[in-house]
Amino acid sequence: MNLAQPIRVDRPTLPSREPLKAALASYRDGHALPQAFYKDPTIFEHDMMQFIMAHWHCVGHASMVPNPGDYFTAEIGRESIIIVRGQDKEIRALVNVCRHRGSRICTEHVGNARNGLLVCPYHAWTYDSTGALLFARQTPDDFDRGPYALKPVALKVCEGVVFITFAPEPLDFTHVEASFGHAARIYGWADAKVAQRKLFMINANWKLVTENYQECYHCGPAHQEYSRRHIFARPEAQRLPADATMHERDRELGIALTDIDFFARDAQPGSESADCSRSALIAGYRTGSRDGEPVAPFMGEFKGRDYDGGFSFLDVGPTSNFVAYPDYGLIYRTIPLAADKTAYELIWLVDAKAEEGVDYRADEVSWLWDHTSIEDKKIIELNQAGVNSAFFEPGPYTPMESDAARYVDWYIAAMTEFASSGPEDWAL
Ligand code: FES
Ligand SMILES: [Fe+2]
Repeated sequence: MNLAQPIRVDRPTLPSREPLKAALASYRDGHALPQAFYKDPTIFEHDMMQFIMAHWHCVGHASMVPNPGDYFTAEIGRESIIIVRGQDKEIRALVNVCRHRGSRICTEHVGNARNGLLVCPYHAWTYDSTGALLFARQTPDDFDRGPYALKPVALKVCEGVVFITFAPEPLDFTHVEASFGHAARIYGWADAKVAQRKLFMINANWKLVTENYQECYHCGPAHQEYSRRHIFARPEAQRLPADATMHERDRELGIALTDIDFFARDAQPGSESADCSRSALIAGYRTGSRDGEPVAPFMGEFKGRDYDGGFSFLDVGPTSNFVAYPDYGLIYRTIPLAADKTAYELIWLVDAKAEEGVDYRADEVSWLWDHTSIEDKKIIELNQAGVNSAFFEPGPYTPMESDAARYVDWYIAAMTEFASSGPEDWAL
């Protein structure tokens, strides 16, 4: 199977674009989105088909499929994808929809396809780990299995992190390699393993989740533990000197991490959005842990060096965010499920050679961001409850919410283009 071939997507009948056009007409630049963007199921359908599915999304880490036949599934909206390592060691992404009558094939979140075979639980059509249909019970002798391979979607592994896209013509990945890849290489994520995974279900629209992630205006009131450790939660006058000291320390240590910004609309047309930004930890904290002390062995280029007093935020596309400390990493996946339902999955990474119980404890590695995410779930759901009110009126973003404003501006530009386009221009 040639993965370079575009995926065949049966173009769905999209709902009317009139609600979207009306919502766009009432959008005020620099303000939160009008209510319909956070609750209208038809706008959610447009979000999925024209924005989410046109981009790249992190689905996990290559260490989650170490051996041939290992797979995991990833959900995005109503789609489910099988990420499977083949007998040839290659990792592929296959749509989890049987080519017979459409059943889900893999029903477990993580598993091993025995002998590399994926067997549909309905009538047992059997596929190999490239997606080829090998066996279809009691079909005529001349039945041609060739056209019934599982549909592939494009997949890239960047420094061990696995990304997929549904787009027939995927967005260019160069910015991702240049910013995310640059940082993930220095942090050694290609040689990482998963220490812990956790899924949070949130009763809110996905854009309230991503907007919340993109601003730290809420960190002071909502995240006391995070704010105690990260200067990023403070106003610019405090941040700038601390960040300058951290950059100085990076130079002394020979760590070549730099800010690289292709975020949102600053990505060139046709390229995926990606960025890397650095920020200082507050004096006394060497990493994002309960007591500020390391929770796992150094990763990547930090091995044999010292803590730099900082950490990195990395973003790729609209749903994939990452946080990197010298001793552990965090993948933060936003998963839109319905107009009022979103999941986020957190995946913590440590050095592949670190031994659980000896070099690290999963609960210590995950403590800070688990705690922070429980707080985020609460504030995001309160946000949705208020946004649902007949009295809700979008208010202005403040300077500390500039990245959330950039994100919304990017989304609005994409949806405005879609609203005025013909079907031939649609993303899927
Ligand atoms: S739907 Fe999969 S074998 Fe019938
Ligand atoms: Fe938060």
